[in-house]
Amino acid sequence: MANLQIGKHIARYPVIQGGMGVRISGGSLAGHVALCGGIGIVATAGLAMNSPLFTGRNYFQADPAALKEELKKAYSIAPDGIIGVNVMVALSDFEALVRASVEGGAKLLICGAGLPMTLPELTSDAPDVALVPIVSSVRAAQLIAKKWHRGTGRLPDAVVVEDPDTAGGHLGEKLENIGSGIYDQYKTVREVKNFMKSEYGVNIPVIAAGGIWDRPDILNALAQGADGVQMASRFVPTVECDASESFKKAYIDCSKEDIGLIMSPAGLPGRALVANLEDIMEYDRANSPACSTGCLKKCTYKESGERFCIVKALDRAQRGDVRTGLIFCGTNAYRAERIETVQEVFDELFQAQEDEAAA
Ligand SMILES: Cc1cc2nc3c(=O)[nH]c(=O)nc-3n(C[C@H](O)[C@H](O)[C@H](O)COP(=O)(O)O)c2cc1C
Repeated sequence: MANLQIGKHIARYPVIQGGMGVRISGGSLAGHVALCGGIGIVATAGLAMNSPLFTGRNYFQADPAALKEELKKAYSIAPDGIIGVNVMVALSDFEALVRASVEGGAKLLICGAGLPMTLPELTSDAPDVALVPIVSSVRAAQLIAKKWHRGTGRLPDAVVVEDPDTAGGHLGEKLENIGSGIYDQYKTVREVKNFMKSEYGVNIPVIAAGGIWDRPDILNALAQGADGVQMASRFVPTVECDASESFKKAYIDCSKEDIGLIMSPAGLPGRALVANLEDIMEYDRANSPACSTGCLKKCTYKESGERFCIVKALDRAQRGDVRTGLIFCGTNAYRAERIETVQEVFDELFQAQEDEAAA
């Protein structure tokens, strides 16, 4: 397996740790993944929530400040590592978080949950920061590349193709299409790769995300045309993951049937453990009648109190309340058997390669 070069940054292994919002991938997980030779990603969504900087009323001040703290933590673990930030376009403070990422030393920006059309302008003073959109269709990749190229001459440094049939968290596909069999992850990977080559003459890395758990999954992704993989769920049951022990244990204890789809108040489907959905909504009916942060640009909870507050539900789970908290996960979460260190995960994924090289 080759190294993974994105922009100017070269990772030893072709693995990006997927950003996991509301403090599942904070500075600890991102730092340890980077230390082991992957690309570590701090997710920005809801970072303020479990931060000492958040007073309950200063969400939009605390959020970028909390991000810089997490980046500092990640770099204290892996001073020379490749550490990036995942910023969802759907967040109300998208622009502020992009700025804070650059100021905090992020080497990559990975942006999905919407099309990051303004990313090159927002980062024009930081040309070494690699820009990586997340898409689920070749059409989305085309729209982004055309807009960036026309506006600034910039192209994506890599593209993550996220498979709505397997990935965790918010998904970029209509609910009724997910699991219908119409989606082909690796066809989309190859189409994005071919489009960038034929339209712009560039060979940028295209990264497959969703459903990748072990070494055979990585080898399959590479054989099917991907240049690397983005793995999220696999890194949840690790010692260094920033989630509570109960969150990690929920992965270990769950079965395939516990994993399902919800409709998020953000207007997107999401994949999660679904058995406690009624408890999540009941919690909000009883305890938090109104939106207090405005964290998402569009949110049915903010606008009409419909469903539940997703950032608070994710935050409760992150802190260990897995009864009324929401646990996002990919379809593979049931494969978790024990809590490992990030190094053990990397050993399992790449030790055979190291042994071969040494022989
Ligand atoms: C707990 C959890 C939280 C997630 N949060 C985010 C997020 O904040 N932003 C984002 O772009 N993707 C998010 N994702 C998606 C992952 O980054 C990743 O692309 C996807 O889960 C890959 O599939 P896998 O979990 O099967 O490896 C999340 C996934 C999980 C499991």
